[in-house]
Amino acid sequence: MSPPDSQTQSADSAFEELRTAAESCTSCGLCEQRTQVVFGSGDPHADLMFIGEGPGAEEDRTGLPFVGRSGKLLDRLMGEEMGLTRDSVYIANVVKCRPPANRDPRPEEIAACRPHLERQLELIDPKVVVTLGNFSSKLLMDTRIGITKLRGRAYAWSGRALVPTLHPAAVLRGGGDAMAMVRADLVRAQMIVNRSTGDPSETEPAVVDLTELSELADVAGASR
Ligand code: URA
Repeated sequence: MSPPDSQTQSADSAFEELRTAAESCTSCGLCEQRTQVVFGSGDPHADLMFIGEGPGAEEDRTGLPFVGRSGKLLDRLMGEEMGLTRDSVYIANVVKCRPPANRDPRPEEIAACRPHLERQLELIDPKVVVTLGNFSSKLLMDTRIGITKLRGRAYAWSGRALVPTLHPAAVLRGGGDAMAMVRADLVRAQMIVNRSTGDPSETEPAVVDLTELSELADVAGASR
């Protein structure tokens, strides 16, 4: 294996600096009750990045994202539909500290944490981003349209593809239909990764422009 070039080395050290900064972050009130900052885990050079909502109790305890029931389901679906393990992708959240009692993250907490996520995206530079659930999908796509309307397609976003899907916790609550939707979305994401990494035998799934969101927004009150 050839040694990493100087560009890769400086991106790696920038990534570690970002982690160190995030781990001592006090930009919002979530820092007061956290046990640990859950910065993210996996391969910082991955082609595929998953973005969830925020750490729960298990994540706060271990410092790792998606290690509770939702995470076990994510691991399983990633393996079954994409042939991947969590070490070969990168997994992060919209907020890096646990909201008390698993409440939803508040707008000011999301805004305070946003620079960490944006820098992670910039440094990892994945080809495909899978947003898990409403919080990450709405934040990145800058929309109020809910995940059930957004999912089912891939969008061109910031020079990459964004594939919104249901949060694994919604699959745990929602059963078979929700599970089938996430499976289909993960297959779509993996096809785009394969194509973008040069597999010519892979079918190219349609990647639609974000402007098409206005069509979805026609459905009044579509926030779920
Ligand atoms: N665990 C996480 O790390 N993120 C979520 O969104 C849910 C569970």
